[in-house]
Amino acid sequence: MSKQTFFSGVQPSGNLHLGNYLGAIKNWADIQEEYNAICCVVNLHAITVPQDPEELKRKTIEVAKLYIASGLDPEKVTIFRQSDVPQHAELMWLLNTITKTGELFKMTQFKDKSGIQSNGATEKISVGAGLLNYPVLMAADILIYDANLVPVGEDQTQHIEITRTLARRFNKKFEEVFTIPDIYTSPAGKKIMSLTEPLKKMSKSAESANSRIELLDEPDVIRKKIMKATTDGENKIYYNDEPEKAGLKNLLNIFSIITDSTPEQIAEDYKDKGYGDLKKDLADVLVEYLKPIQEKFNLITDEEVLNIFAKSKNELLPLAEKKLAIAKEAIGLE
Ligand code: AMP
Ligand code: TRP
Repeated sequence: MSKQTFFSGVQPSGNLHLGNYLGAIKNWADIQEEYNAICCVVNLHAITVPQDPEELKRKTIEVAKLYIASGLDPEKVTIFRQSDVPQHAELMWLLNTITKTGELFKMTQFKDKSGIQSNGATEKISVGAGLLNYPVLMAADILIYDANLVPVGEDQTQHIEITRTLARRFNKKFEEVFTIPDIYTSPAGKKIMSLTEPLKKMSKSAESANSRIELLDEPDVIRKKIMKATTDGENKIYYNDEPEKAGLKNLLNIFSIITDSTPEQIAEDYKDKGYGDLKKDLADVLVEYLKPIQEKFNLITDEEVLNIFAKSKNELLPLAEKKLAIAKEAIGLE
């Protein structure tokens, strides 16, 4: 039986962090053998907010290097640059015509980035139409390859739901063209929280770099960030869901994922110790955990990545062209 396909991607819009790794990339590496794996650097998504052209180019290569350094085998996994396969953008147009604007305006990510607050009040932020149509491009990315599975962090759930809705709607309105994909989130890594504001997710775009452990952070930077991480005044280690303990909970979660334990077990191991001890040990294991990724990253050249992009482009173009042609025919365009 032929393998099922998974598709996923990360935006080259900042520095990749532990949330990107534990919520997404690590899971791709874990399932790469069982699936036909397609891993994209989604540069067209990145430009939905302003990017410096040179920096964008550099980051696109850096993200691909981090995919490989994180264990994705470029011989088995198709690693590519979204803009190399223009059919994604064309399929997005077709899908746009069956998408309701109301569906896009209610997306949490759009509301966050465009300054619409939960009470409906708006700050006056002018945002590009690309930000509104972001989920439609994401749907095109996934549907054009008939992906069965999309491994992502929990924050992408709404985007996968709209992808499924659009696929079903297209299939019903025209012909059965698209596969309905499933989401896959790993139980432990699906939402890594900010180190400084532990009720918010760790993110590339948060102003304070202290809020995230970046995958390429130097050991002393990792140590400093973990030691500074927000906890609470109680200095008592236990694992629960109280908002005041959110900082501690996040540290226990991270600790447990990278040591293959459970947060409850870590809490038990440290119950007679203080936050300082926990943080110091966590910083040490994190430094060791990221070391092989960083070492491998430094060995990969830009040229290697550009060759991989070129090879992947050749492989994917015919697949994407074929699917797009089927969709166009179903609509009556060809
Ligand atoms: P982005 O940084 O928005 O390009 O996200 C790339 C991937 O990382 C997506 O699958 C996200 O769901 C995942 N991700 C981003 N931030 C986190 C986080 N704090 N915890 C878990 N997964 C995350
Ligand atoms: N929106 C995703 C994110 O920011 C990135 C992305 C774009 C993606 N296209 C995708 C993820 C297709 C999975 C599948 O995290």
